[in-house]
Amino acid sequence: MGELKRGTVFSGMRPTGKLHLGHLVGALQNWVDLQSKHHCIFSVVDWHALMGEYEHSEEISENTIDMVIDWIACGIDPERSTLFVQSHVPQHLELQMVLSCITPLGWLERNPTYKEQLREITTRDLQTYAFLGYPVLQAADILLYKARLVPIGEDQLPHLELTREIGRRFNHIYKTDFFPDCEAILTKSSRLLGIDGRKMSKSYNNAINLSDSKDALKKKVGSMFTDPKRIKMSDPGHPDECNVYTYYELFGPERAKEAHDWCSNAKKGCVDCKKIFADILSEKLGPIIEKREGLLKKKDHIAEILQEGRKKAGAIAQETMKEVRDIVFSSKK
Ligand code: TRP
Ligand code: SF4
Repeated sequence: MGELKRGTVFSGMRPTGKLHLGHLVGALQNWVDLQSKHHCIFSVVDWHALMGEYEHSEEISENTIDMVIDWIACGIDPERSTLFVQSHVPQHLELQMVLSCITPLGWLERNPTYKEQLREITTRDLQTYAFLGYPVLQAADILLYKARLVPIGEDQLPHLELTREIGRRFNHIYKTDFFPDCEAILTKSSRLLGIDGRKMSKSYNNAINLSDSKDALKKKVGSMFTDPKRIKMSDPGHPDECNVYTYYELFGPERAKEAHDWCSNAKKGCVDCKKIFADILSEKLGPIIEKREGLLKKKDHIAEILQEGRKKAGAIAQETMKEVRDIVFSSKK
């Protein structure tokens, strides 16, 4: 440890359902890699989940445990990283309050992610006080640990920009340099498409989940959309325009060249190509699936890990909030 650990990493994920391959390549692989060089704090952000899912809040606690199981199965190491549940550490809400006081309404109303979600999500009423303040809580998450690095997907960039602006505004108003700037660590391949070629998402029902059985996985891969221009097997395909080929590149790079060749020279048909890929994928996911199954039998152990995380995160959070209170309420300004 020691000098190896350059700056704290913080990231969060909402416990809103099963994790899928998009989460694996879009976030988790990045998280796993960061663990060797940084102190990483990973939070199950259940308050953020509640903002959107307040009408189905009964699912949040089960999703929390399932998600932590998926994290650990994918290689998040609770010995090295701090894993905890946002609502277990009350200082997130305390700092959110302080930051709410200094965040101009216009910053939140202009937030492109907010506007987009109000437009696109029609199944839930998101016209709430809390939802407008979503990025303020996110800023509190990050600033509470004075994290320097935040692994996120591109869609989260506006939120990170707001975090920086809110931190700077705090420093400016209270004449301090208490909160450091943070920067995003973007994932390279955050745009994994689902089996139907649309964005991979639980709500489109087009995701391959980390919890899928091998049979489910084979069925899903078998039903993937392929190059629409390839009608007969004797037609040469266009792998660079085929979603299945993208999957080869991400999950079976050792066979990708070969696949490119058999596709563009019409040596194999799509059915075979997908069968071969299904085997590759199930072999790749095999260790994750096995680890998941082992962990599912030890849910008490997961609760202990989260308890440990709560202590570690809580100690830092208490320290920060004590200083924030001192800064805000001190008489010498
Ligand atoms: N808003 C993030 C998302 O939906 C989740 C999140 C909450 C987060 N707090 C965070 C991500 C802090 C990074 C840092 O993906
Ligand atoms: Fe896609 Fe494979 Fe069919 Fe080529 S052979 S179009 S890569 S599924």
